[in-house]
Amino acid sequence: MARPVTGPASVAVGDQLPGSGIREIVNLALTLDPASVARLEIGEPDFRTPGHIVEAAHLRALAGVGYTQSAGLAELRALLAERILAVSGVAYEPDDVIVTAGGVQACSLVMSALLSPGDEVLVPDPAWPNYEMLIQLHGAIPVRYPLLLSAGYVPDPEVIRSLITDRTKLLIVNSPGNPTGAVLDQTTIRQIVEIAVENDVLVLSDEVYDEIIFAGTPANAIAIDPEHVMGLYSFSKTYAMTGWRVGYVAAPRWLRPALWKVQEALVSSVSEVSQAAAMAALRGGPASVAAMRESYRIRRDLVVRRLAVAGIPLKEPEGAFYVMIPLSPGADSRLACLELVTEGVALAPGSAFGDVAFDQLRLSLSASEETISLGLDRLLAWYERTGGGAHLVGEPVPATGEH
Ligand SMILES: Cc1ncc(COP(=O)(O)O)c(C=O)c1O
Repeated sequence: MARPVTGPASVAVGDQLPGSGIREIVNLALTLDPASVARLEIGEPDFRTPGHIVEAAHLRALAGVGYTQSAGLAELRALLAERILAVSGVAYEPDDVIVTAGGVQACSLVMSALLSPGDEVLVPDPAWPNYEMLIQLHGAIPVRYPLLLSAGYVPDPEVIRSLITDRTKLLIVNSPGNPTGAVLDQTTIRQIVEIAVENDVLVLSDEVYDEIIFAGTPANAIAIDPEHVMGLYSFSKTYAMTGWRVGYVAAPRWLRPALWKVQEALVSSVSEVSQAAAMAALRGGPASVAAMRESYRIRRDLVVRRLAVAGIPLKEPEGAFYVMIPLSPGADSRLACLELVTEGVALAPGSAFGDVAFDQLRLSLSASEETISLGLDRLLAWYERTGGGAHLVGEPVPATGEH
């Protein structure tokens, strides 16, 4: 007789994951008349995937598709190794580049290959929330290092050093950063990598926004020490291909057997249709990427100008497609977002990304200039009326927090 399902302990790990603070706002926005709310909360390009990419995928699907090698099509991995060599100067064999179901699955692959319960992983705060979710799913412990507005959201390598213990296994860096838009300078990246290597800690460098940079250069952390650094990339943001789910990771040779086996266990292989699309994207040249980058830059300039006129101090983002907006010191960004959405503008609360940006909002540039302008009108009217949400101060400001 089948045993009754009673909610066993085995579901507890997934159950304990925190809910998404961005999703809460999305769900609320979806209940409203679409014409009444400027949606600036989501981190997804508003562009269509370029036509030549879609066509290549279509043709591949018509020709017949199936499983590929677990690490991805050899032809695609050869193209990726070429790209990495051109961009970073590091020569990988195609077998050391693993195709994944987006950047998120590249993270999950690396963590499944490396982490044991109780290991510590250093993560930025604020950061893309999925890092911590995945770390927790692996029974490991996220240890946050702060990205302070006063420091331009650039981490202090010495603070990172002070957080390393004998249980630290992995350190995650992300440049250009989500949600900060900060592009880390080469000296900082080098210092961070060197500190990690000195302490026998591996580095996962999340560079999924590496082609959406307005000032500065990609982190290119693999070039500093390819034996200890893994580079994480994605087609999602660069080519407006979020829905195709293709990313990849470049890893040291010694990790190859583990990554191949784990990828087989996790996904067997990424959709061949999507891999064909990725090849077309790489072969298609830089024009479509350049056009999208220019649109993001124009939108960023628009937001920065309007906020400067309103006297709101911020760090101008140098990459990705987000702008962080400080509230009144100590104001609860979640409550601010809940109010703002009813006023017709949806934004992401800084609290969705950790503790440090508790009193900041993230505005996404992935909407038309018209929508961004409308959202800014509403945000700035609220900001002026409330003093940047001064009535929402009350929660204790986290120890590491600032505004
Ligand atoms: C910093 C960062 N890394 C990775 C990802 C993963 O994106 P995808 O799985 O679509 O490649 C995202 C998505 O928002 C991100 O912001």
